Amino acid sequence: MLDVQNANAGYDTFQALFDVSLEVNAGEAVAVIGPNGAGKTTLMRMISGLIPIRAGEIRMEGRSLSEVRPHEIVELGIAHVPENRRLFPRMTVEDNLRMGAFTKTARPQFRERLDYIYELFPRMKERRLQYAGTMSGGEQQMCAIGRALMSKPKLLLMDEPSAGLAPVIVQQVFDLVRRIRQEGYTVLIVEQNVQQVLQVVDRAYLLEAGSLQTSGTAEELLASDQVREAYMGL
Ligand SMILES: Nc1ncnc2c1ncn2[C@@H]1O[C@H](COP(=O)(O)OP(=O)(O)OP(=O)(O)O)[C@@H](O)[C@H]1O
Ligand SMILES: [Mg+2]
Repeated sequence: MLDVQNANAGYDTFQALFDVSLEVNAGEAVAVIGPNGAGKTTLMRMISGLIPIRAGEIRMEGRSLSEVRPHEIVELGIAHVPENRRLFPRMTVEDNLRMGAFTKTARPQFRERLDYIYELFPRMKERRLQYAGTMSGGEQQMCAIGRALMSKPKLLLMDEPSAGLAPVIVQQVFDLVRRIRQEGYTVLIVEQNVQQVLQVVDRAYLLEAGSLQTSGTAEELLASDQVREAYMGL
């Protein structure tokens, strides 16, 4: 579904990603793990068109992303749950969800998608008129995921959904990821909670200092000494 080939990206004179190649097949959940500053968020931003690809190529279902304008990438079926959620804190949950349905395809289906999100996340229905900024961290994450799903994406990019949440809530966030997979979405997720994310994905890539170091099935990475020592404290 998603095919990234030798992609480079950066900011001004700083290069943050070096020849990154990865793929995500339809129906898969794939994680990118790695330390602070490795370039994980940069990778997500590059895939969703928020920053340009400097070299290499990204294809979504065979279509090169450089052929479409950045704001049209979401029309190809890619939705992004950004780092730190980026909700509009002084808008209601429902208005935040509405912001996710801005695409040509999603707008006419707004009501239908909203009902679907409320069915998937009944908590959001209960809280529909609450200001997003007054909800708990876990609820805000649920709202941010719901907002991304409003565009009826094929591929959901999630940037550290468990960051900054209490351990019990972290568990709930990973349960959400499981549920999203059951709904049939393909998922690319960035996480520092390595032990836990490897329980919910099929495969993972390890990104360090802007380069992919290794990749494998979740089982392989869970068993790898490199990953266990550096990321799981084992
Ligand atoms: N807007 C920016 N301008 C300049 N440099 C940036 C910018 N955003 C990120 N960087 C740099 O790019 C590198 C990769 O950052 P990125 O945010 O992608 O890392 P990350 O893996 O997501 O880290 P974290 O786990 O802390 O979120 C870092 O060295 C960072 O300082
Ligand atoms: Mg990041």
